Order: sequence, then structure tokens, then C-alpha cells
Amino acid sequence: MRESAPTTSLKRVLSGMRPTGKLHLGNYMGALANWVKLQDKYECYFFIADWHALTTDYADPGKLQQKTIDVVLDWLAAGLDPTKSTIFIQSHVRQHAELHLLFSMMTPLGWLERVPTYKEQQENIKGKDLSTYGFLGYPLLQAADILVYRSDYVPVGQDQVAHVELTREVARRFNSMYRTQLFPEPEALLTPSPKLTGTDGRKMSKSYGNTIGLSEAPAVVNYKVLSMSTSGQRIRQTDPGDPDLCPVGDLHKAFSSPEVLADTQRGCRNATIRCEFCKILAGNSVCSVTEPIYHQRIKLESRIEEIWEQLRDDSIQKAAKKAEETMKSVRIVFDLSHDLGSVRRHFLLTPEQKKGLRDLSTHADWWDLAPDERSRLLRDYWKTNLVPYDVQLSQESNRVFTTAERELEEPFLTSKKKRVFVTTSRDVMQPDKWEFEIPAKTYEIWTLLCWRAQDKTIRDFAIPQKLFSLDFSLAKKSSKKNEKIPVRILRSEGNRFFLSIAGKGGQDITEFEGDYEPLR
Ligand code: TRP
Ligand code: SF4
Repeated sequence: MRESAPTTSLKRVLSGMRPTGKLHLGNYMGALANWVKLQDKYECYFFIADWHALTTDYADPGKLQQKTIDVVLDWLAAGLDPTKSTIFIQSHVRQHAELHLLFSMMTPLGWLERVPTYKEQQENIKGKDLSTYGFLGYPLLQAADILVYRSDYVPVGQDQVAHVELTREVARRFNSMYRTQLFPEPEALLTPSPKLTGTDGRKMSKSYGNTIGLSEAPAVVNYKVLSMSTSGQRIRQTDPGDPDLCPVGDLHKAFSSPEVLADTQRGCRNATIRCEFCKILAGNSVCSVTEPIYHQRIKLESRIEEIWEQLRDDSIQKAAKKAEETMKSVRIVFDLSHDLGSVRRHFLLTPEQKKGLRDLSTHADWWDLAPDERSRLLRDYWKTNLVPYDVQLSQESNRVFTTAERELEEPFLTSKKKRVFVTTSRDVMQPDKWEFEIPAKTYEIWTLLCWRAQDKTIRDFAIPQKLFSLDFSLAKKSSKKNEKIPVRILRSEGNRFFLSIAGKGGQDITEFEGDYEPLR
């Protein structure tokens, strides 16, 4: 009996927030409220980007943990649910850092220098020296955050779209450079956020001290709304005003029922409502959202130890587990696998051990796969397990393959730039015959991989051009354009192997089995 983890086919969503301390209404409307909704439709990952915070606040990390907890408590109070979503702390999942480091090897400097927020923030944020390596690499860390979970969607505000775009470019570069499909290109889910102005009429932001907190007591919320600026609207209450220009009008749009919104807008425009009353209504509307959050937060605060423990556990048990799956594949790409893997074969010296490498009985399932899929696996198996360590086979670079078909037809290049076409036998029924199809192109070496389901071993023949060139060029001449040439290997009763091209010829290729000299 095998216990399998429940697999979901839901699309994956990931987003993060910097640990800025308790959240305000702008954070809620611009992100959190949307996240709460996404939880029911997607497999969600939400995290506190504490490493990101250090890219700008490295000189003054004090209170980072306090701010992290403050954000998490607001998340939970507002309805992020750890039983639905994976909620975690970035710095507890070291895979983010590992992927960031590996991405940094292959990301051109210019890509990072060109990210719009880089120059902007360097100029705008005064009093901090942002000419650091970490700050330049910040969007790449974000790319690692997103790609380490192979996320499909990233809910963000407009200011983060350029970072998601960079993430897509990194994914594309990785996939094409290493010929994999490991990383999907994530899409930004733009959060439609209504404009929210702070109490003083400027953008709501902690640094202006003009925020209304998401988990503030109703009395405080009401007081703040009552003393809010109207941005110069209706200085005399007998004058009509424009609610679109007033911060209180914004609050109504974001928090009031359609009726209250319509009433206050009309009242403002024809001066039949006093601002004070309009503000009382706005305060009530805001409190209808924040009051339950306020109470919930007080309850959560009394369980702080338990909440922290869950956050820590989920970071490791859920987030890091998922991230580690990706990193296993990434490490293989960079040949940093933690398993001894294929290097082992270099040290396998006895004939018994070598024969073991040709035994595919643990891969019996491959034969049920589609031919192309099977060919790809066998080709990879051959390259990683049978070809000796010191034979260098590369593929022609800077070509991006879209279909599996073309990938299978792309030859390898030896260190002397000879073109090696590698292909797998198709026919399974007859015991002493293997059939191949070879494109009518020029190759210096053919490597023919024979495998039959019955005996579950792989035989490989690396055949140099001189053995096939004559029959092959005759066959090419009489073939139609783009037609592949049928090639066979036949085994005689004397256990010798013969090559036949388009039904002709019978070169003895026995001595080329398992011979890698032509590939050196
Ligand atoms: N850079 C984001 C911000 O400042 C936070 C963030 C870090 C993020 N990593 C992310 C957002 C990954 C979405 C996905 O708001
Ligand atoms: Fe602002 Fe309301 Fe006064 Fe209009 S009535 S100016 S929306 S506070």
C-alpha cells in the first residue's frame, strides 16, 4: 500500500509582503483582501519577505521579528487561513537563497540595472546607502521566491509588475539555456486597488504617519476618520463638493454599501449633508470591516507562542518541502546534485558492475510511455549512465526547441565537434531486430540504442560514418524530401549484429557495441 500525498491540480499562487509592522487600510485593499479571496480558488503561498526588508534596512535590523509577527497577526486576523494556504517566513526557507545564488550566476547585470525601481529608489530613498550588491539583486531574489514554488500567478500591485516581468525573463533564460521546462513563466495578477488616501490627503503610508490601521480599535478608527482632511473640499458647508477629490469619498468607495455611497456622494455634490455626518458614516463603514479584525487580533495575540510555532513549522514542513522539490531538479541542472548519481559509474570497474548499468528492469514502466517520451528518457539514460565520464557531449547552443520532436532530432556534438545522432529503437515485437528512423541529414556518428521490453536491457552502438555513409547517401537520394530513412539492426544466430539501411547492406557492427572511442 502506498500512501500518496493528495495532489492538487490547482494553479499555484504566491505573494509576499515586507515586514513593515501592523498593516493599514491601504495594505488591506491593495493586497490582503484579495489574498483572502484567492485562498479558496488556488493553492496559495504567502510569505513575509524578511530578507527583502534587509536589502534596504540592513543598517538597522532592529524590530524585524516584531514587525514580522505584527504582519502575520494582521494576516490571520483578516482571514488568511493556515489550513488553506501555506503561510511562512522567507528566511526560514533557505532554498530561496540557494536559488537566488544560482540565478545570480546566469543573470546579466544589465537586466538588474534596468529594473525601474532600482534607480528610482536609489535616488528617492534618502539617508540609506543603496549602492549595495543586495539591493541590486533584490528583484532576482524575488524571482527566486516566485520560481522556487514554480508559481503560476503572482498577485501584486502595479509597482511590482516589472519584477514579475524580470522573473519571466529569468525563467525563460534558464529553461532555454539548460533545455528544460522546469520553470513556468508566472503571470502577475494585478490587484485592482481603489485609491486610498491617508488622513492628511497624501498617499496612505507609514512614513507619512497618516494611516488608519487595519486592526485598530473602532474608537481610534472613528476618531481618525472624523479628523480627516477633505483636501480643501467644502470649506464652507454650504458649498457643494466633489467626493472624488476628497479622501473621505475614497473611504466610502472602498468600504461603504452602494446605498451609503450613493447617498453621501449626492449629499456632497448638492451640499445637503454635513462633512461631519459623512465622516461618521465613513467611519462606520470602515469599522464594519476593521472591528471584527480588531477583536480577532486581540484573541490571536494571546496565543502568540502557538502561532509562532505554527509559522515556523509550516515554513519547514510545507514551504521548504515544496521548494526542495524544485531545488533537487535545479541542482541536477548545475551538476550539484547531493546524490552521487552518475559519477559513480566512472568508478565501477568490474564487468558485473558495468553490466548492471545496462539493466533497465527498474524502468519497466518506460515501455508504456509514448515513443517520444520513452526515447527522451532512454537518450538521457544513455548519456548520463553509459557514456563514460570523460566523453564530452554537448548540444548546439543558442537554439531553442519548442517541440519534443525537434529536440529528439538535435544531434550532440563531441569535443571535436562531430555531430552525433542518437536515437532509440521503436519495434518491440521481434527478438532479433531493432528498427530506427533517421532524418536524411549529415551526421558523423550514429548512436543507436536498442531496448526491448522483454529483456529490459539497453544495448548501444556508436557507429562511425564510414560504415553507413555509402548506403545512407544512396537511400537519401531515392527518398522524398523530409522523409526519414528506415534503418535496422539485425542479430544473427552467431550473435553478431548487422546494420541495414533502407533494406540494403549488412555491415557487421558487433564490435561497435558499447564502444565510445568514436565519441572521443
Ligand atoms: N517586493 C515585494 C514588495 O516590496 C515583496 C515581495 C518579495 C514579493 N518577494 C515577492 C511579492 C514575491 C510577490 C512575489 O512588496
Ligand atoms: Fe468629503 Fe464627505 Fe465632505 Fe464630501 S461630504 S467633502 S465626501 S467629507
